[in-house]
Amino acid sequence: MQISVIGCGYLGAVHAASMAKVGHDVVAVDVDPERIAALSRGEAPFFEPELPETLAAATATGRIRFTTDMSEVAGARVHFIAVGTPQGADGAADLRYVDAAFTELTRYVRPGDLVVGKSTVPVGTAARLAAELTAAVPGAVLVWNPEFLREGFAVQDTIAPDRLVYGVPGGDAGAPDEEAGAHAVAVLDEVYAGAIAAGTPRLVVGHATAELVKVSANAFLATKISFINAMAEIAEVTGADVTALADAIGLDARIGRKFLNAGLGFGGGCLPKDIRAFRARSVELGLPHTLDFLDDVDAINLRRRDRAVEAATELLGGSVVGKRIAVLGLAFKPNSDDVRDSPALDIAIRLHDAGAEVLAFDPEANETSRRVRPTLTYVGSAREALAAADVVLVLTEWQEFRDLDPFEVASVVTDRVVLDGRNCLDPVAWRDAGFTYRGMGR
Ligand code: UGA
Repeated sequence: MQISVIGCGYLGAVHAASMAKVGHDVVAVDVDPERIAALSRGEAPFFEPELPETLAAATATGRIRFTTDMSEVAGARVHFIAVGTPQGADGAADLRYVDAAFTELTRYVRPGDLVVGKSTVPVGTAARLAAELTAAVPGAVLVWNPEFLREGFAVQDTIAPDRLVYGVPGGDAGAPDEEAGAHAVAVLDEVYAGAIAAGTPRLVVGHATAELVKVSANAFLATKISFINAMAEIAEVTGADVTALADAIGLDARIGRKFLNAGLGFGGGCLPKDIRAFRARSVELGLPHTLDFLDDVDAINLRRRDRAVEAATELLGGSVVGKRIAVLGLAFKPNSDDVRDSPALDIAIRLHDAGAEVLAFDPEANETSRRVRPTLTYVGSAREALAAADVVLVLTEWQEFRDLDPFEVASVVTDRVVLDGRNCLDPVAWRDAGFTYRGMGR
C-alpha cells in the first residue's frame, strides 16, 4: 500500500520505517532538511533500539523515501499525521504543527484517501479536522488512530502493538457517516494486516473516543506512578519500604505490578505534557473540577525531584557547595537519549547550580543533555564520574548502573554514599560494600 507519513520525529520516523518494514511503500515528509538528509542516509536521528536496523532494512528494499517536499505525498492512499503537539504556554496542547501539516497535506489528498491522525491531540480536534477535510476534499476520510509506543520499545510497539484503535466517522453512537467509517476500517485493516493476522485486538470507535483513549491511557499511567510515589512519601516518614509495598500490592491482579516503580517520577515528551493538556481541555469543556486530581498527580511527581535534591544535600552533610557528585543517568528513562523533561537532568542541574561539582554520565544522553544544558560537566564513562566522588547519584536505571559492582565503586569514590533515585540497586549489596545507601521511599 502507498503510505505517506507527515512528521519525522519520534513517532513519525519510527512509524515510517516500520510501515516500510512490513511491506508498504512509504514517503515520509518533514520540514527539517537536516533530519531528512540524515534519514535518507539511513541514520536514525535519535537513539532507539532496533530503529537503525529497521531503517537500513527498509532503505535496502527501496520502499521508503524521505523528503521535505509535501507534493511527493500525492499518490499515497493513506496519509499519517505524526507531528508533535508540544505544551503551550498555558499548559494546553499547541496544535500549530498539526494544523500546518494538515492544511499543507490537504492540497494533495484525493477523494477516497484516508488522513490518519496519530499525534496526541485534545478531544474535539479530529471532529474539527474532519469537517475541514470534507469541505476541502469531498470523499476523503479523516481517522484518528492513536499511537501507544514507548520510547525504548518503539519499533516493537509499532509493528506488534497491544491494541489498534481506529477512531472513524460514525464510530461513536449517534454519528451518521457509516459508509466513510466502513471504508476507513477496510483500508486501515490492510495497513495493519500483519498485526491483525497476529491477533492484535482492534477497536473501532468514534473520533472523540479515539482521542480520549490516548490521553486517558497516559493520564492513568501517570496517576499510577504518582500513586506509588505518594506511598513513597508515606514510607519515608514511617520507615516502610515502598518497593516491598509495590511488590505486595502488585500481586493483586486488579492492581498489577507494572508502573509501580517509585523513584524520581515520570518525565519525557509525553506523560507530563499530556496530563497538563488533558487538564486544560477539561476546563475548556466546562468541567473545571473533573480532572483536579491530575494537578495532584503533577505536583506529587515534581516533588520527587525536590526530595532527591534534599536527600543528596542531607547525605552531603547539609551543603553541596564544592562537593563532588557523580551523576549516573541523564535520560528520562533507560534505553533512550531523550532528556525532554527528564527528572535526572533536572536534578543534576539543580545540584550544579547550587554549587556542587557535578560529573555526569549517561550511556546515550550526554550529547542530548549537552545541547540543552551546556554548563554541566559530562564525562565519558561511569568510572570517570565516580572518581573521587563524595556521593553517587543513580538517576536513570540503565542496566549498566544496575550491574555496577559496589566493591569496585567503593575503590574509586572518596565517600561511600549512594542515593538510588530509581530504587534499582540492591541495598544489601551496597551496604555490604560499606556504603550508606539511600533509596526513594525505602
Ligand atoms: C509513554 C506511554 O507509556 C506510551 O504508551 C505512550 O505511547 C507514550 O508515552 C506517548 O504518549 O507517546 P514513554 O514516554 O516512552 O511512553 O515512557 P514510559 O515508559 O511511559 O515512562 C515515562 C516516565 O515514567 C519515565 O520517566 C519513567 O522513568 C517513569 N516511570 C515509569 C516511573 O517513574 N515509574 C514506573 O513504574 C514507570
